[in-house]
Amino acid sequence: MPEAPGALYLRPLLIGTTANIGAAATPAADAALLVLASPVWDYFAGGMQPLRIVVDEINTRCAAHLGMVKTGGNYAAAMGPTLAARQKYRADQVLFCPGGQVQETGAANFMMFREGRLLTRGLDSSFLHGVTRDSLLAIARDSGVEVVERAFDVAEMLDWARTGEAALSGTAAVLAGVGTLIYRGADVPVGSGEIGPVTRDLRSKLVAIQRGEAPDRHGWLEKV
Ligand SMILES: Cc1ncc(COP(=O)(O)O)c(C=O)c1O
Repeated sequence: MPEAPGALYLRPLLIGTTANIGAAATPAADAALLVLASPVWDYFAGGMQPLRIVVDEINTRCAAHLGMVKTGGNYAAAMGPTLAARQKYRADQVLFCPGGQVQETGAANFMMFREGRLLTRGLDSSFLHGVTRDSLLAIARDSGVEVVERAFDVAEMLDWARTGEAALSGTAAVLAGVGTLIYRGADVPVGSGEIGPVTRDLRSKLVAIQRGEAPDRHGWLEKV
């Protein structure tokens, strides 16, 4: 186990082992369950930098009906657009918005903050229901932030970006601030372009609970 803020990332993996490679649409009757236990170190060891995110209105992160399932195959579809965005725009991630509807990035959920409100897509089968998202929503409610969970489109996201904050949530990064949205080839700053105060506040509150430095009001650590 690395010292905090490092962690031991546990990743279960279920692989079908039935020898029936010719029967493509037949589920396996046997499977091997593996658990990878991988040490991870501080994601932001070099200091937190505001992220650059490409807004992609065409591609999907994975097959729409598998979005909420963590299958290995779900990650391949995001790879091409993400590598292209890195090369072309020095972007960190791609925010998938198929049909103009804001979803999530390759491996993190997306949320915005403005005037005491948090906006994030409501749960549906098209994206992964991250535990970090769930925890941050609870902490936001506890902090008096109004949590709005619903579908929203790119136009509304860009409107929030003018004066608000945007961030990615996930186990590794906890909550990482977005400084720039790259929309149709142009850089659009989110708020001041720096990591915003609500993002920093919610992130530090979740990390404090994880480290036992703040009361665990929801009994999250007992479940571990
Ligand atoms: C596609 C995707 N979305 C969101 C997340 C964030 O989920 P969590 O907060 O459970 O780490 C992940 C994490 O791996 C992910 O792969």
